[in-house]
Amino acid sequence: MNPKNDSGPNAVGHKNIVTAVTTAIYDRFSNKGVLPPLEPTVRVDGKTCLITGASSGLGKAVAIQMAQRGAKLILACRAGHDSVVEEIKQASGNHAVELMTVDLSDLESANRLCDQLRDRGVILDITILNAGLMPLNARRSPQGFELMFSVHFLANRLLLQRWLADGVIRPNPQRPPRVVFVASEAHQSSDPIDFNHFGEFVDYGMKDGMKHYSMSKLHLCTFATELSRRVNPGKQVNVAIHALCPGPIASNIARESPAFIKPILWPIMKLLFRSPEKAAEPVVYLACANNMGQRSGVYLHMMREKSMSSDARDAGNGKQLWEKSAALLQPYTEPARTTEPA
Ligand SMILES: NC(=O)c1ccc[n+]([C@@H]2O[C@H](COP(=O)([O-])OP(=O)(O)OC[C@H]3O[C@@H](n4cnc5c(N)ncnc54)[C@H](OP(=O)(O)O)[C@@H]3O)[C@@H](O)[C@H]2O)c1
Repeated sequence: MNPKNDSGPNAVGHKNIVTAVTTAIYDRFSNKGVLPPLEPTVRVDGKTCLITGASSGLGKAVAIQMAQRGAKLILACRAGHDSVVEEIKQASGNHAVELMTVDLSDLESANRLCDQLRDRGVILDITILNAGLMPLNARRSPQGFELMFSVHFLANRLLLQRWLADGVIRPNPQRPPRVVFVASEAHQSSDPIDFNHFGEFVDYGMKDGMKHYSMSKLHLCTFATELSRRVNPGKQVNVAIHALCPGPIASNIARESPAFIKPILWPIMKLLFRSPEKAAEPVVYLACANNMGQRSGVYLHMMREKSMSSDARDAGNGKQLWEKSAALLQPYTEPARTTEPA
């Protein structure tokens, strides 16, 4: 993300289907740049860790592994997932697990979560923004934004703005808190962001779902890069901000796929995709590895460090995205809460 930290193989890229397949094959068979697994001795005892979308798939697996490493967990999930707390306690043996309800498609709900964290004086050491979805077709959020734009990007933008302003995340060069965004390699093949129509709702059908998913993850990656630049303007790391693609996961992400596809899709996912437990590796690495606390702007594709797309790293894009999203969020953020990194 941060040009200072560009490294990793990035064989060819994702500009078209041929280069995307070449890159996938390269990634599959090359060991170059693959990070070693995180030692079980690396612990985060007593650190407060918030995870969004911890009710299913990757988020739940990450929650169990973070609890096993000693974190005090806040699971930020939609309503109706009370049983996940007990499941995570049982699976990890760690009882410091609580649930806070939030619907990230609704900016008012995201604001309520922020109010609660601020009022309770919670300070987050590790924040994992994982919640995501792949809707079958375009739907509007309560505020009228496209759902993936809202959940993958805009809600995270609001949460970070609020948490930095409210002191829920406190920049600290001695012990930088960490923010980990679950993105996707799909951002590499996205069309560029159309800043002339930024945030406008586009009605799309099943055929274009992937295109809009990729775009929403490009928004997220561009935001992660720009946030890292703004929070860490010099050499010193004040907040370690990282992102990753977990690779294909046998999760519930395809829950909205048509009924006739599901009986075919699920066995394929089970057979060829990674388990949520395996896919959690890079998330937990970025959240816990000692060396990741001294850097910011690292992007992992599974366990390999890479560069994000040039669009995501472009400073001009980052500035535009920052300013235009600040304007979109303005009605949902009280004046006193809008103080953010210059
Ligand atoms: N699966 C893949 O192949 C793959 C590949 C690359 C990246 N990813 C990314 O990995 C992340 C996790 O996905 P997954 O594969 O684990 O899928 P999943 O099993 O469907 O889990 C998604 C999680 O996000 C939550 N979520 C969705 N909409 C939400 C909302 N409006 N408010 C709050 N939470 C919401 C879900 O909550 P509910 O249970 O309440 O719906 C669930 O906990 C996503 O960001 C996804 O884009 C996945």
